[in-house]
Amino acid sequence: MATMSVTSWANLWQTPLQLINKRNRLNSLFSWRRVASKGVSILCACLLVGQMANAQNFRTLRDVKVDETVLDLSKTNCTVIPRNAMHSCHRLISLVLPTKLDSIGSQAFFACDGIGGELSFPATTRVVEASAFNGCRQLTGLNFGGSTRIGAFAFANCRGLREVRLSAVIPPVCADNAFDGIDLSRVKLIVPTQAKKAYRNALGWRNFFGHHETKNVCDPEHLLVPRPLKLEVYKSKLALQWKDVAGVEAPQELSNEKMQAERILCERTVYKKSRKAGPMVHLALDKSLTNDEAYTLQVTDKGITIKGRTPAAVFYGLMTLEQLCIGNGVSARSVKLPSLYIVDQPRTAIRELMVDPVRHFIPFNDLKGFIVEMARYKFNALHLHLVDDQGWRIEIKKYPELIEKASDRVGMDDMPERIRGYYTQDQMRELVRFASTYHVMVIPEIELPGHEVAAVHCFPQLSCAKKPVPIRLTCGVSNELLCPAEPFVYEFLDNVLTELADVFPAPYVHLGGDEAGQPPLGAWSDCAACKALKQKEGYTENWQLQQYLFDRVINKLQSLGKTPMYWYEQEFKTIQPGCVVYAWRHGLTKTAIDAAVRNKAKIMLCPGEHCYLDYPQQRGDMPEKNWGMPVTTLEQTYRLDPAWGQDIVFVRDNLLGVSGTLWSECINSTERIYYQAFPRAAALAEAGWSVPERRSYKEFLTRVRPLADDMLRRGIAVNVR
Ligand code: ACM
Ligand code: ZN
Repeated sequence: MATMSVTSWANLWQTPLQLINKRNRLNSLFSWRRVASKGVSILCACLLVGQMANAQNFRTLRDVKVDETVLDLSKTNCTVIPRNAMHSCHRLISLVLPTKLDSIGSQAFFACDGIGGELSFPATTRVVEASAFNGCRQLTGLNFGGSTRIGAFAFANCRGLREVRLSAVIPPVCADNAFDGIDLSRVKLIVPTQAKKAYRNALGWRNFFGHHETKNVCDPEHLLVPRPLKLEVYKSKLALQWKDVAGVEAPQELSNEKMQAERILCERTVYKKSRKAGPMVHLALDKSLTNDEAYTLQVTDKGITIKGRTPAAVFYGLMTLEQLCIGNGVSARSVKLPSLYIVDQPRTAIRELMVDPVRHFIPFNDLKGFIVEMARYKFNALHLHLVDDQGWRIEIKKYPELIEKASDRVGMDDMPERIRGYYTQDQMRELVRFASTYHVMVIPEIELPGHEVAAVHCFPQLSCAKKPVPIRLTCGVSNELLCPAEPFVYEFLDNVLTELADVFPAPYVHLGGDEAGQPPLGAWSDCAACKALKQKEGYTENWQLQQYLFDRVINKLQSLGKTPMYWYEQEFKTIQPGCVVYAWRHGLTKTAIDAAVRNKAKIMLCPGEHCYLDYPQQRGDMPEKNWGMPVTTLEQTYRLDPAWGQDIVFVRDNLLGVSGTLWSECINSTERIYYQAFPRAAALAEAGWSVPERRSYKEFLTRVRPLADDMLRRGIAVNVR
């Protein structure tokens, strides 16, 4: 066990940190390539001995000092532990707070689920902010020496708690949900004898003396993300009382949706399974609806009817029903729903989130959990970025070397951690099955011709240089490219794509295509074989080689019955028939749209300035400033216009959907994926689903709050102030 007894902040900087030439994902036309090549030193933030802790110190403790498992701050003069300080630092097993502590910021120790024992808050502690210790399930005791204000969900899901001790005679202000998710009948609250009555009646503390669930209120006009197309609420009509409901009825084709409906009733309402007669939840298919994802939802005191054109559509109706049950989010269970009628359908066909298990591996089961959360917002695609310079994460039976040699490395920029893991094909088949029960398709992505260092590491023959290269340990762009003149490249890609097409039944396979060196495609200029191929084909420029390579790969993919997708780059002079491109570069969306229209291609809108959810949501927030990423606020994401100001012809003929990316160079835990994603992913879901006339940022903020609270109640990280 390594102990981090922090006596001076200076010793944090004794870790040998080299200048990092990091991948700066400011993906604009000009900026990121130039900035990335400058390199940024985190040493420049060097601090004086004894200086107050700041976010940078804790960032180092959390992500750079990766061998430390004990955080003892008792000898420091730290007074403020900033927000997210040690967010989801699972390795920590022990924490001692500073003796002059003033405050602990929100989510500072979120899901630090290894920290055990009792935690003492010195009398100076003024506040423990929202979700500061949410999910610290090994904590057994809390001891407050003074009057500490306790924020929303501050100790939610700390299921190991057995004792909470306070010396304040006047109960400190405590959010009523501060200890949600814990069976408080098992926790002893020890307070001064004369103060017992006051605690019994005080918000937050009263829950230790008995159940005080606040009534969950469903006001549909102020709920629901994405906002449905039409919603009518009949306030004068009788409400549906969940206690009267007798169950779910559905035809055989909707057995999966029936299970989901039953889950919602059990988890989200006061419904009792034993009731023999009463109002029912009816699920049905309705082929008169014109959009495959269209559904109607009717609630009366006589029951609930959800009809959809397809099982997916019925499922979306159920996701809407679940949000109605979450209501204003103040408690876990819905008592009643008002009479209402909803008609709904999406604006765009694909609402997607992309995750990157290459830079930081995402455990298999965590992918499943993420699908469950996406589905709540009617996302219907999970895009898996399975291959990149830093690793190969998918088993390819023909080439076992890929996972044997390229799925385990130490280091991601300045984070000296071991990052290893891959998905077996059996796991991916299971994921696909699981995702289909949530009506989410899984789109696999491999990369070409760049971002292929992991493959070249295993098979040097794939590259122009044909030289062995190490797995990349930093972000950024590599000049190592697949060689379009090398026959093995085609053999390799054919074999890989054939296996992928078999494992992933989604109609799409993503081919990458982005950031092929600096300058783009430059490596091919120095390759004799590439030059010879150019001469043979009568090409004068490298983009023609790119097109040659892509044409061959696209033909193969189309012969496997798949629609190829790729990240649009200006170097692509044409888009091959039947392909889908992604507009992603900051400032280049219109260029990509023009290319899609010119080539009659479908396009996914994923502009960096709205959709890169790996960027921080506020200034100075995770990932901290030193990564050089631009801030993408919640409002900025919300303001994405998937039509990008184009006419209805573009929307009809070209616009396929929206995508949000969660590149993981700086995201090193599953909790941080959620933190980066939400609530911006909810804003993106609404951009992709709801028509512009039904959208309003101000109202979105009201509607998303109960959903964010619900996630925090369940121990899922969300970035809320
Ligand atoms: C990308 O962000 N390189 C698509
Ligand atoms: Zn070459």
